[in-house]
Amino acid sequence: MGAMRKVLNWYARLSPSRGKTSPPYEHVVQIGDPRLRKVSDPVPVDKIKSEEVQKVINKLRLVLHKYGSVGMSAPQIGVNMRMFVMRHTAKQISAVPPEIAKSKGMSVVPFTVFINPKIKVVDYQKVIYMEGCESVQGYSAEVPRYREVEVTGYDENGESATRVFKLWPARIAQHEMDHLDGKMFTDLMERRTLTCACWEEVNLSKGKVVIPFNPE
Ligand code: CO
Repeated sequence: MGAMRKVLNWYARLSPSRGKTSPPYEHVVQIGDPRLRKVSDPVPVDKIKSEEVQKVINKLRLVLHKYGSVGMSAPQIGVNMRMFVMRHTAKQISAVPPEIAKSKGMSVVPFTVFINPKIKVVDYQKVIYMEGCESVQGYSAEVPRYREVEVTGYDENGESATRVFKLWPARIAQHEMDHLDGKMFTDLMERRTLTCACWEEVNLSKGKVVIPFNPE
């Protein structure tokens, strides 16, 4: 084990708002934050249209877009409510080589909000691919996921909604669902496949590379 180094945090020290942030955040909390390990609380259905819950939904949408992610759960912005959002745009998919997008079963998913979701496995066959998480910034690993699932919950208007997801969208839904139960992909990963996304860059830059925890 190496010496613990102090985290360089010049920008935060310059910021007058340091220490004053409160959830829902506009950044994504990182593994080690105890909120990522809690079983989140259900949202009372009659509270879905409340200002408090709508604020969390709006922040989830904002952070999802800011980070360019395909899924984001409330615990990741510091709120232990059972809610997540997901989407996969044609533009995001077109950034992946077509043969890979096809083999992974990627397909367009419109922006979708799930509140108090329940997941039912439709196809128990598991598919293994590399997966990452905005709360484990800079790392990815192979994770087995069910091939097809059905998610039932409430949408942002408090209406009940059911969606069936196959392959990549099913992976996104299972990943986000796990966050609501305090689980991370690192609990399920094939441990020897854990990879730092920038390991090659570390060598090219002689170690002078940083992992950004906020894309702005
Ligand atoms: Co995640």
